Amino acid sequence: MYNCAIILAAGEGKRMKSSTPKVLHKVCGKEMVNIVIDTIKISGINDINVIIGRGADKVKDATINNNVSYSLQDKQLGTGHAVMCAKEFLKSKKGTVAIFTGDAPLITKNSVEKLIAFHNEENYKATILTSIVDNPDGYGRVVRESSQEVSRIVEHKDCNAEELKINEINAGMYCFDIESLLRSLDKLNNNNAQGEYYLPDIIGILKNEGLKVGAVPVEFEETMGVNSRVQLSEAEKVMRKRINLMHMENGVTLIDPDNTYIDLDVDICNDTIVYPGNIIQGNTVIKENCTLYANSRIEDSFIDKNVTIQCSTILKSKIGENTTVGPFAYIRPESVVGKSARIGDFVEIKKSVIGDETKVSHLTYIGDAEVGSKCNFGCGTVVVNYDGAKKCKTLVGNNVFIGCNTNLVSPVKVNDNTYIAAGSTITDEVPEGALAIARAKQVNKEGWVEKKGKKK
Ligand code: UD1
Ligand code: CA
Repeated sequence: MYNCAIILAAGEGKRMKSSTPKVLHKVCGKEMVNIVIDTIKISGINDINVIIGRGADKVKDATINNNVSYSLQDKQLGTGHAVMCAKEFLKSKKGTVAIFTGDAPLITKNSVEKLIAFHNEENYKATILTSIVDNPDGYGRVVRESSQEVSRIVEHKDCNAEELKINEINAGMYCFDIESLLRSLDKLNNNNAQGEYYLPDIIGILKNEGLKVGAVPVEFEETMGVNSRVQLSEAEKVMRKRINLMHMENGVTLIDPDNTYIDLDVDICNDTIVYPGNIIQGNTVIKENCTLYANSRIEDSFIDKNVTIQCSTILKSKIGENTTVGPFAYIRPESVVGKSARIGDFVEIKKSVIGDETKVSHLTYIGDAEVGSKCNFGCGTVVVNYDGAKKCKTLVGNNVFIGCNTNLVSPVKVNDNTYIAAGSTITDEVPEGALAIARAKQVNKEGWVEKKGKKK
């Protein structure tokens, strides 16, 4: 059976009160619509059409790397109308179309596969996913006949008192036989409380034609829709729990999984220990045996094995094995720190390379620099990389000892095996093997205090 999918993502999301289209709000670091696309893909469907409308350009931009096609819904006249806008996508196809919404990101591969298998094996013309819930407020209700078969779906706003009591809800995810769907779309009307063309009405239409309509129940946790910020936080909580469980099952220790925030695409190897308050984002990879003490933020970075990080921020950078970082270090994008290095407290590294076994232990700024291995930066060293107009580079070789409170005024080069005296402001190249001193010589004026009458 040929399977394709449609994702409804054209709605405004009024209840979010946001200038960002609803489906682009993120759950564990990823846009909801991209989470849905990923789940459909790993379930084996690659022909995916996204219906865009509100913020169409933004939604397109955010999904462009996912290899999907798009249909435009100019006016948001309802979920049924949204599918009408995909007629071009559907018209030459025979088989099954699975329809999902871009605002329900918790659906799992398992359930998608179950829905499709059930629909195709039993030869249904339509199959819906449903959930039994305690509080069905806002959801479409599933009305079943005496035979227990689904007969139609009634939107919350169109329910009578009896229907409001039904606690089986429409998850807003379906499979349809493409031909039957296309035929029925023409029969939809908007005679309802919201004046919209409802996709769920197709179920009633097919049923009235005597065709087979099925339902697959799944846990509410998977079908929860996000229409507000409160629901967004609930979805985030569920997703976070799943992610953290997966890492623990893979051999990562999370000291307090309720207070550990790991994005969907983060990769962590076994025997790494993560203390509470860590925020690990984007495409970060953390290799084995690392210790992340409390309260770091690590984004799009590669952390090699045996690294210890305390209370620091690391952005789009690489940290070599056995290195320690922090507390309170700030490693900014495009930095590469070598093996067995030390980046200590109140150190900022920006777009710089730091060689193996180099120590930058405290209160230092290194920007736009290339530093070799086995160097030692004294406390309070500043790479003066900005002259007010442009950024310049500093090069530091291997085995360089830089005394405390040194300025390296870029562009400048410090060659291998050199020493720089504390308090120096280095503006000229330091040749290999030299000691550079660049500060005023000390003068002691004997008896000066007495002479000036300043003695206290
Ligand atoms: C919908 C279902 C409801 C179900 C619920 C599950 C309808 C009429 N109702 O209600 O039965 O219980 O989902 O979460 O379908 N969209 C468009 N174009 C439009 C309108 C909506 O693309 O013109 C998209 C939205 O971006 C969203 C999805 O369709 O991703 C669902 O729309 P929404 O308005 O959130 O529907 P619900 O009221 O939640
Ligand atoms: Ca919704």
